[in-house]
Amino acid sequence: MVRNIVIYPDKRLKTVSDEVTNFNEELHTLLEDMYETMVHKKGVGLAAIQIGIAKRVLIINLPEDDSDDAIVKKEETLEIINPVFLSMEGNCKHQEGCLSVPGFYEDIERSRRIVMEYQNRHGEKQVIDNQDFLAIALQHEMDHLEGKVFVEKLSILKRKKFEKEWKKKQK
Ligand code: CO
Repeated sequence: MVRNIVIYPDKRLKTVSDEVTNFNEELHTLLEDMYETMVHKKGVGLAAIQIGIAKRVLIINLPEDDSDDAIVKKEETLEIINPVFLSMEGNCKHQEGCLSVPGFYEDIERSRRIVMEYQNRHGEKQVIDNQDFLAIALQHEMDHLEGKVFVEKLSILKRKKFEKEWKKKQK
């Protein structure tokens, strides 16, 4: 089921999400709903809090090319539960966007390489070691689990400009 996306500056986006302890039907339904919502909104990643569920769950699906009809295959969707960074190193800057801040894109500084441990939908431990765009997407989604949105990483000046324009747009 496609769910509504929580839009910035909704306070729910500030919630620190809770650890998942039951890898049951309810979790699997949440993952299905998140996938359908992400595909419907043409996003590449989604955290559960973005549909109002404060659980440490995120999904990522990076299309193989940039064309509009690139198929987002369900079996290639990364389902990440209770993620923890084991290491982060280097620096890089990439343009980011967010389904909770639709239409706004800005360069954000991140670590270049990350190693992350997480659980899959069955509760099995997995590790990702990545230094491509996936590493950036994981850092962006991980921020959502900590109650942070990428616009909070903007410089003071850029943040002020964004807040002004965003308020205007919301009216
Ligand atoms: Co986001």
